[in-house]
Amino acid sequence: MAGLVGEFEVKLDAKGRFLFPSGLRKQISPASIRDFMLNKGFEDCLTLYPLPEWEKVSAKLSKMNLFVPKNRMFYRLFHQGAKLVSLDNAGRVDVTFGGGGHSREIFKHLNEKGRLIVFDQDPDAAANAWSAPNFTFIPANFEFLHNHLRLNGIKQVDGILADLGVSSHQFDEESRGFSIRTDAPLDMRMNQNGAVSAATIVNEFEEQELSDLLRKYGELPNARRIAGDILRARSSRKIKTTGQLMEALAGCAPKFKDHKFFAQVFQAIRIEVNREMEALEKFLEQTSEVIRPGGRLVVMSYHSLEDRLVKNYMKRGSLDGEISKDFFGNVLKPFTEINRHPIVPSEQELEENTRSRSAKLRIAERNG
Ligand SMILES: C[S@@+](CC[C@H](N)C(=O)[O-])C[C@H]1O[C@@H](n2cnc3c(N)ncnc32)[C@H](O)[C@@H]1O
Repeated sequence: MAGLVGEFEVKLDAKGRFLFPSGLRKQISPASIRDFMLNKGFEDCLTLYPLPEWEKVSAKLSKMNLFVPKNRMFYRLFHQGAKLVSLDNAGRVDVTFGGGGHSREIFKHLNEKGRLIVFDQDPDAAANAWSAPNFTFIPANFEFLHNHLRLNGIKQVDGILADLGVSSHQFDEESRGFSIRTDAPLDMRMNQNGAVSAATIVNEFEEQELSDLLRKYGELPNARRIAGDILRARSSRKIKTTGQLMEALAGCAPKFKDHKFFAQVFQAIRIEVNREMEALEKFLEQTSEVIRPGGRLVVMSYHSLEDRLVKNYMKRGSLDGEISKDFFGNVLKPFTEINRHPIVPSEQELEENTRSRSAKLRIAERNG
């Protein structure tokens, strides 16, 4: 066992964790060791063995003659209170970096061993990244979370934040075509290297495909009629801009509710362009492998389709909401929800940030 010189008074925090003082931590060699066996030692002391040391000592003890009662007693005492524990490195991942607002707050609160990894599939987001040894920007889709973390030498992390959807920058940048307020090229790609743009969908998809995606992703009851009007308009000339699309659909838009109607049409097309539901499904399924026990998953979603997936996964352990049970009838699920109901913006938040109006925030903790 590595001998640690010093004493400290153990104080548990609200989650039953104790802080291992950095002075003592420095004595652990090599510093990369994160897993320990914590043992209620003899008399009033806790003993902390770096895992490789513990394995050596335990192997040595198992060679004792255990038919001798004294040896057996010692062997039992030594092993009975042992528990595998890991240092909390505060390794966090923000999979939707965007303008970096959330990341900057997370970064401020990292401890000295903390590391922040961020993802964004929009190359524009790289302009908001900063350089620091414990910060990494990954310009990729979060559906490849596990692979990218592995490439960066990371097996597990303490927390993941996903703030889904489109960033303010993407909405406000007219040329991106996300907003119904300006006439812009029909693009809507978060990753500008993507092969499919909104123009591809509007001009090349079959009528049935259009109708399906408008119903599914825009929750539009008149999806068939909208698809029909798109086909009629594009038969005379290619629909190139957001303005031309809105003009083609003017007859389907309900009076006084046209703003909401167009927002739903744009949402449906944007979800299809960016394969948002598929990426979210793949991402959620990887989180149970990537987040260490006790770590947290935090997801902010902006429409009911996303929220349903997140809720099902956190509450029931599956994307479709089906519950699986083990032989004894215990529900098998990787996470436990911290808040049973989603957290929604306060009145004050809504006043300061109207774009937060549809946000739902869910938090879950990885089960041990
Ligand atoms: C709502 S914004 C995030 C804003 C950010 N939390 C902030 O504080 O500025 C969502 C960001 O996630 C990115 N994004 C959305 N889906 C993604 C995906 N599947 N993979 C990677 N990035 C994604 C978007 O490009 C966008 O920049």
